Amino acid sequence: MKLQINPAHSAPPFTIPQCRGKKLRGEKIVCLTVYDHPSARLLDQAGVDIALVGDSLGMALGGYDSTLPVTLEEMILATRWVRRGLERALLVTDLPYGSYQLGWRQTVRSGLKLVRRGGAAAVKLEGGGRRVRLVEALVEAEIPVMGHLGLTPQALHRMGGYKVQALDAASAEALLADARALEAAGAFALVLEGVPRELAGAVTRALQIPTIGIGAGPDCDGQILVWHDVLGLSPGPAPRFVRAYADLKAVIAPALSAYAREVRAGTFPADAESYHRPPAQRLAAAH
Ligand code: KIV
Repeated sequence: MKLQINPAHSAPPFTIPQCRGKKLRGEKIVCLTVYDHPSARLLDQAGVDIALVGDSLGMALGGYDSTLPVTLEEMILATRWVRRGLERALLVTDLPYGSYQLGWRQTVRSGLKLVRRGGAAAVKLEGGGRRVRLVEALVEAEIPVMGHLGLTPQALHRMGGYKVQALDAASAEALLADARALEAAGAFALVLEGVPRELAGAVTRALQIPTIGIGAGPDCDGQILVWHDVLGLSPGPAPRFVRAYADLKAVIAPALSAYAREVRAGTFPADAESYHRPPAQRLAAAH
């Protein structure tokens, strides 16, 4: 099958300063999570602007029920794999739980590892006002930072589950204040997850940096979804904010059943899928 190459693929690399430019021009920023090399190549060829190695990798690839067990080493490895598949997309990697909660020194150390060993161009961390010093320290170390507010999966236990956040006026005000604080600290973009559309729109209008929504409605400056959700590879029913653009489970399951059936029937491999000794050797072996 020939790959459908998007014209965006021949474009120059997408950079941090271009994020702000896109917002100013009212052009949407396209983001998607990705965790491995062949998928990164497909994402890049499709012209996605930002590839996020999200700690959702623990759930999407590892089958965990939260992102909490994911380690920095696992994020470095996935980042390295993805890096090798990208030519244009900007590579951002999540700081996983436990890699920044101890303070700015630990945060910068973790960020440096993601950049130097993984090849990330920027990192993302979850949380608002309490993270300001961490964001400043990363920016001082020349590590661009994407913030993440609203439903922050690493705060699963504090939130009491994966629930839509900032539903009342006071928590909406607090989120807006957090967003302003992250922007002032130097974040170059902000993920808004699981918040009412109206609030996401208000934050987007209040900030100069772009907002990237997931479950935050259409008024953000860009959108992000999880690779497995977009392609119909996730187990179980998808949340309301997900749109699956393919049903790969429905493609993969019959393909694997056919493979198993043909191996068992002895019809795979066929003679044409086998190697043969060259004729001269066969002759020599016969004497
Ligand atoms: O880990 C992740 O995939 C994320 C996105 C959903 C924003 O943080």
